[in-house]
Amino acid sequence: MVSGAVVHFKEGLLGAGAPFRADLNLVVQLVMGSVLIAGAYLARRKRYKAHGICQTTVLLLNLLMIGLVMGPSFQEQVKPALSRVLHKWYYEAAAIHAALGITAELLGLYIVIVAGTDVLPEWLRFKHWKWWMRTELVLWAIVLLSGVGTYCAWYVAPFR
Ligand code: HEM
Repeated sequence: MVSGAVVHFKEGLLGAGAPFRADLNLVVQLVMGSVLIAGAYLARRKRYKAHGICQTTVLLLNLLMIGLVMGPSFQEQVKPALSRVLHKWYYEAAAIHAALGITAELLGLYIVIVAGTDVLPEWLRFKHWKWWMRTELVLWAIVLLSGVGTYCAWYVAPFR
């Protein structure tokens, strides 16, 4: 399939005709989503150190996926079209997903900095830990769903 400047060959993992990097990202993101849920369960069991390591690892690994796969894809495929009117699902889905994704990633970094370090002054530190972490988990789930939506809009025949 030819979309924008990039040609996708049938070389992926899942047989949808998506490129390898997109299939790999999809699988990694679904695994990371499950790890985050397992990490939330660790907090419920009061295993806070293991919880912190688990959630921070996913957050940082996701920075890598953004830097290697999603960021470059966004630059190449979506950004050039954003100056024109958003009219196709292809661009809309990815733009909504990217905006939510950046918010989730920044919020996650803020939570990790407050929870794991003392670098921020008192007035910038939140007190209601559960509220912030639950909000982040819900936002992450929405971003994951919008990522699956982007995958469908880009590669799965009935949605394209
Ligand atoms: C919590 C953070 C995020 C999660 C959980 C997430 C999840 C996903 C998932 C599951 C996909 C489908 C697999 C694929 O098509 O590659 C995807 C695709 C994509 N995401 Fe994200 N994402 C996040 C953050 C971001 C950010 C910050 C950006 C913008 C820079 C972004 C831009 C994209 C783009 C452009 C695609 C299509 C990539 C392609 O198929 O070539 N995502 N994302």
